[in-house]
Amino acid sequence: MTAYSKQPGPIGVFDSGYGGLTILHGIRQLLPEYDYLYLGDNARAPYGSRSFDVVYQFTRQAVMKLFDLGCHLVILGCNTASAKALRTIQQNDLPKLDPDRRVLGVIRPTAEVIGKLTQSRHVGVLATEGTIKSHSYKLEIQKLWDDVTVTGIPCPLWVPIIENNEADTPGADYFVKKRIDLIMERDPLIDTLILGCTHYPILMPKIQKHVPKNIQIVAQGEYVAESLKDYFRRHPDMDARCTKHGSVKYFTTENPEKFKETARIFLHEQVDVEHVDLE
Ligand code: DGL
Repeated sequence: MTAYSKQPGPIGVFDSGYGGLTILHGIRQLLPEYDYLYLGDNARAPYGSRSFDVVYQFTRQAVMKLFDLGCHLVILGCNTASAKALRTIQQNDLPKLDPDRRVLGVIRPTAEVIGKLTQSRHVGVLATEGTIKSHSYKLEIQKLWDDVTVTGIPCPLWVPIIENNEADTPGADYFVKKRIDLIMERDPLIDTLILGCTHYPILMPKIQKHVPKNIQIVAQGEYVAESLKDYFRRHPDMDARCTKHGSVKYFTTENPEKFKETARIFLHEQVDVEHVDLE
């Protein structure tokens, strides 16, 4: 077993790149008193079309890095990693690495609320190819709400559009409309659309423009935050192991200058970033 520090530490938030910043933002709105470490594997993003095994290996390395940096609790602020790596890490790796540490994902908290939001009982999921192919949303939602029909559509071009700072261009309109038309054609009864990729809230103005007005759009940040708050209520032992000075530190596997520049699209604030290597 690895000898990680027993001292309380920050909460780790991981994403393949910048998308997890929308989750971190949601969590910090509700739980500003905690300390956070954000890690973006920008050098190897996007994860969306990578194989199960590669996403698992990369995510496992990131989790181990966040444990090394003192985190007792890590949130996978990435649907692709939550879909493809979370279960294996929880079941196979944590018992060996440190059975007292925890890794949580973003799909379960979204699945938990969705049955309360849909009236028509028809839900759409827009996500990366990896998340859609894993069927994680369908499985998690139908485990809890077996009367809900789930239709998923991959949007492979949305993450590159966002990461290349093209989210408010006419090109983005074209690609957003195309996928929304497709999902509404597949199931016209959909009344609730999940943005099942943590990058997608950056496209919110375009998505709102092209989605029929009676449909509610669900971004995950606030639901993940509420679920984390509830987790701490149920696990005061873990709460005691998370430090609370209201700080955030950012780490990237890419060039910190590049991260700083692009992170501005997501955070609208200047951040300090350090480089880390994962392996
Ligand atoms: N933000 C990640 C997610 O929520 C996907 C981005 C990527 O393809 O790496 O799925």
